[in-house]
Amino acid sequence: MSIATVILAAGQGTRMKSETPKVLHCVGGQPMVLRAIQTAERIGADHLVVVVGHQAEAVAQAVRGRAETVLQAQQLGTGHAVLQAAELLRGRCELVLVTYADMPLLRSETLQRLIEAQRANQGGSFAMLTVTLADPHGYGRILRAADGSVAAIIEEAECTPEQRAIRELNAGVYAFDAAWLWQALPRIQPKSKGEYYLTDLVEIAVAEGRRVVGIQASDPDEVVGVNTRVHLAEVEAILRRRINQHHMLNGVTLIDPATTYIEESVQIGADTVIYPNVQLRGNTVIGSHCLIDSNTIIVDSQVGNHCRITASVIEGATLEDHVQIGPFGHLRQGAYLCEGVHLGNFGEVKNSRLGRGTRMGHFSYIGDAEIGEDVNIGAGTVTVNFDGVRKHKTIIGDHAFIGCDSMLIAPVTVAPSARTAAGAVVTRDVPEGHIAIGVPARMRPLQPLESDASAE
Ligand code: UD1
Ligand code: CA
Repeated sequence: MSIATVILAAGQGTRMKSETPKVLHCVGGQPMVLRAIQTAERIGADHLVVVVGHQAEAVAQAVRGRAETVLQAQQLGTGHAVLQAAELLRGRCELVLVTYADMPLLRSETLQRLIEAQRANQGGSFAMLTVTLADPHGYGRILRAADGSVAAIIEEAECTPEQRAIRELNAGVYAFDAAWLWQALPRIQPKSKGEYYLTDLVEIAVAEGRRVVGIQASDPDEVVGVNTRVHLAEVEAILRRRINQHHMLNGVTLIDPATTYIEESVQIGADTVIYPNVQLRGNTVIGSHCLIDSNTIIVDSQVGNHCRITASVIEGATLEDHVQIGPFGHLRQGAYLCEGVHLGNFGEVKNSRLGRGTRMGHFSYIGDAEIGEDVNIGAGTVTVNFDGVRKHKTIIGDHAFIGCDSMLIAPVTVAPSARTAAGAVVTRDVPEGHIAIGVPARMRPLQPLESDASAE
């Protein structure tokens, strides 16, 4: 049975007090509307339609390639919003799911349950998600018929005092029989303010003797809607708890889950221990038996097993097993550290490979370099990779020894087992069996910059 999902995202979100459309605010590092799309993708929706309205262009731009969009030029209510997708979807699907873009914690499993409830609802119009909350404020109240089906949804403004006390509420998530939906939607009558309520479909179905099934959300957090930045932070905290619990149940120790920020996309192996104040983001994979110590940020990086990282920032890097970093290391895009590399305090590595067992203990910069195995990089070493115009490469052979404060003026090669002395300014290749000694520096008049000026 082909399924379409319609995601409502036209509302203004005034209470966010933001120039950014509400549904483009991020939860778990991802704009809310993309989370809603992801949830729908997971149940295998054949058609995905986002209803845009306020700041339609920005929202449409954000979802391009992931969903189709339809414009609701005027926000005349949830019923009117779904109607905007009718032309696009009529005849193209048998079941229509409706969700909100500002409900970022909804699980695909819940959508699946709703689909199944509607499949079992032979001849019925739709299945809807309900939730029981201690504080029903702001939600439509559910009235049940004697047979357990949904008899009506009463919006808060229209509730009698007794109805107001009802705790079973409309979450705003539905699975409709498509053919029924498209013919019923135009029959919704506007309220006094000119709004068309999607919830009026209950009345229309019941009047035809068609059944509306209400299934309860097992986790009330799932249907929390975001209207303010306070809600945004609450939702973020709930999501963080969910993610952290998942990792802990998979064998990862989080010393303080409340201050551990792990995005959903991250994978972590068992018996890794994570200390407080750590952020793991993006497309990051951490191996097993690692120790990620406090104040570390790892983004889009691969970390092997048995690594130890302390108070460091790692972006777009790859670490093989048994690598040690920090405190205060900085790995940037394209850093590749082979097994057993040790990078001590204030080391920075960019677009460079460090071979097995290479050591770089103290405040050094390695950029655009190819460094062999078992190399010792003395404190203060710099690969001088930029001449003001272009980047150049440094190559250091296996077992080489780079003395403290060496300036390696690239392009330059240090042969295997060759050495540089402390303070050397190395402008020429160091051949095998040699040590480069370069003190003191000599004075020369400045030459106009040429692209390869530093090559000598
Ligand atoms: C709606 C339900 C209510 C339910 C609640 C759950 C109706 C009439 N009421 O109430 O029973 O308990 O959700 O949160 O449906 N939107 C549009 N276009 C519009 C109006 C809304 O795209 O013209 C979108 C909003 O951006 C939002 C969603 O639909 O994502 C819900 O709209 P909102 O105004 O928050 O609905 P409520 O009145 O709170
Ligand atoms: Ca609302």
